[in-house]
Amino acid sequence: MKRTKVFAHRGFSGIAPENTMAAFQLAVEAGADGIELDVHMTGDGEIVVLHDEQLERTTTGTGWVKDRTWAELEAVECGLWYVPPVKGERLPTLAQVLELAWETDICLNIELKNNWVAYPGMEERVVALVERYHMAERVILSSFNHNSLKQLSLLKPSWSLAALYDCKLVEPWQYARLIGVNSLHPHYRSVDEEMVQTCQRHGIGIRPYTVDEERDIKRLLAAGVEAIITNHPDRVQKLARHGAE
Ligand code: G3P
Ligand code: MG
Repeated sequence: MKRTKVFAHRGFSGIAPENTMAAFQLAVEAGADGIELDVHMTGDGEIVVLHDEQLERTTTGTGWVKDRTWAELEAVECGLWYVPPVKGERLPTLAQVLELAWETDICLNIELKNNWVAYPGMEERVVALVERYHMAERVILSSFNHNSLKQLSLLKPSWSLAALYDCKLVEPWQYARLIGVNSLHPHYRSVDEEMVQTCQRHGIGIRPYTVDEERDIKRLLAAGVEAIITNHPDRVQKLARHGAE
């Protein structure tokens, strides 16, 4: 059985403000195999890294990302909400994170947050950025918007694409084929060993999110998932090492 990979959810967000360069740097230093990050698009087409559609929860900005220009967002702080507050963390662009990843051997799981807000042209812009940094081999594009994934699969049939979902699908491997993706990122509670093994036999990798508790991590490691998306990559690494001994 292949080693389960560890993806740091929103960076190493267990110990740093989510989706910041600090959290991404810590994920690299922790030796994570991958970084999961969320992206939106500004009104003038910049791809920025943030979880929410609106700025208030984690930044000093206000309003919707789609209604702001990059010039308006460049200086917002993204770590002051954290306890204890972290100063000087600016809103990262996808380009900055690609640059960080390019200098290492880490993978990026870029989650397009285009399920609730439409960002016309976002798919093409994300693809162009990934190509600019020659990172196609080390990038997984995921989304809860399966129409967007279908569009991406037509644009880039050979890329790693993953459908996010949080329900029990009937024959998930068939569904993956239907929408043109080669892996699935389900909520971890909907994942069981039989589903993982059957999907794997059909060539569909399973990377559940967001798995932080020891008992869940152990269960999913035993089920043989391809990767675990977690806020605590150190915990998963420790349990995976322990299991391998
Ligand atoms: O990509 C996995 C996970 O990040 C999906 O949910 O809300 O944390 O972006 P969310
Ligand atoms: Mg996400």
